[in-house]
Amino acid sequence: MAKITYVEHNGTQHVIEVATGLTVMEGARDNGVPGIEADCGGACACSTCHVYVATEWVDRLPKKDAMEEDMLDFAWQPDPVRSRLTCQLKVSDALDGLVVNLPEKQI
Ligand code: FES
Repeated sequence: MAKITYVEHNGTQHVIEVATGLTVMEGARDNGVPGIEADCGGACACSTCHVYVATEWVDRLPKKDAMEEDMLDFAWQPDPVRSRLTCQLKVSDALDGLVVNLPEKQI
């Protein structure tokens, strides 16, 4: 279980307890957080689950694999350091306190 803070582009925060084993995307989708569309359902094939990870979390997350890296090229205004696809981030206790900022829009 991890407490994750999703911050909408307008500053609205959603603090959600997400179960271990789900993805950060599923935590948002299942709790109605607006702004994470996840059109492909988590297959790393759409980039509409894009977020900017809080700077202090960048090095605490597992590294991006090649597929995520490629798909991020299609995201809205990706940041080379802070952008991640939330369907590729598995929730565990290690993610407790994670803060992600949603982009202005998804593609
Ligand atoms: S949900 Fe489609 S890439 Fe993450």
